[in-house]
Amino acid sequence: MPSGAASPAELTARFAAEAAAVSDRLGYEGLRLAWTGRKKGILRAMLAGMKDVAPQDRREYGQAVNELKRAVETGLEALAQRLAEEEKAAARRAATLDVTLPGRRPALGSLHPVTVVNRDIEAIFAEMGYSVAEGPEVEDDYHNFEALNFPHDHPARDTQDTFFLNSGALLRTHTSPVQIRTMLARTELPIRIICPGKVYRNDNDLRHSPMFHQIEGLAVAEGITVGDLKGTLEAFIHRLFSADTGVRLRPSFFPFTEPSAEVDITCPFCGGSGASLQGGGACGVCSATGWMEILGCGMVDPRVLAECGIDPDIYTGFAFGLGVDRVAMIRYGIPNIRMLFENDERLLRQVQP
Ligand code: DAH
Repeated sequence: MPSGAASPAELTARFAAEAAAVSDRLGYEGLRLAWTGRKKGILRAMLAGMKDVAPQDRREYGQAVNELKRAVETGLEALAQRLAEEEKAAARRAATLDVTLPGRRPALGSLHPVTVVNRDIEAIFAEMGYSVAEGPEVEDDYHNFEALNFPHDHPARDTQDTFFLNSGALLRTHTSPVQIRTMLARTELPIRIICPGKVYRNDNDLRHSPMFHQIEGLAVAEGITVGDLKGTLEAFIHRLFSADTGVRLRPSFFPFTEPSAEVDITCPFCGGSGASLQGGGACGVCSATGWMEILGCGMVDPRVLAECGIDPDIYTGFAFGLGVDRVAMIRYGIPNIRMLFENDERLLRQVQP
């Protein structure tokens, strides 16, 4: 046996220890090369060492090296098997479901405040027998103004308010033209509709956006009175806000209704007192008046009915127009109308339908 080199018995023990320390395929390959490699493997070196062994010891040495070789081969086989089993076990562990882990919440979308308010209002009027009508956002002068009894020199026709298109068409400044379209296209009376939609005006500040949302309402039948208008709007407001919300009609003017009124509700923030709920002072939301304006309304002007081919001596009607964004701002305490259209997800996430 070569002097100074480890004996086959010592090497068997060393191999066993090294094999036990291997934990992955890379380690296995390293071990296999180190021991059975054709050029630099330990077994190879042991065989090459035979020439240094005294002739009378060679037989014994050869046997010992053969035993070592067998031990290395079976050891490598056992190691490969152990690694394969460990890999399988690890894969099983990775695939099992740990039911004690806290769940990951999927990110849910939410509805835009204007959509929520629109749907609520549609649901309330649907219960009262109204259906939903729609009309184009690109309108013409006839439906947006003329048929609604706007005199030719009325300031609302001014470019101040109206976006005109090069073709002579315009972006509707209110949802009232849908009244006209519905009456002209009617197949039967009575009519009971609401018309939600986008409207456009050349106006842009904290309280005005060039695009905003209205809901128009129209009821036409025989014998409709101001009492019907008031009762309908009161019932609607009590459903939309709360049963104790105060409602008042203030005389006003619109070209397409006579008489006309604006409708105020008691401020939902101060309960109509005008006083700030947070430690005295004035309510900043309604400017201490206790009231907030939310819609315009009136009895459909006989000239509008006649223009649409409905006999005003037989039929009467009422109409109203509501600012949806304003209702959303009141309901969700949104101070600036532009916040509704900036697409900031944080605003959307605060809105629960
Ligand atoms: N169209 C009006 C506006 O945009 C709102 C309105 C007022 C509509 C009175 C109506 C109404 O139907 O009767 O300001």
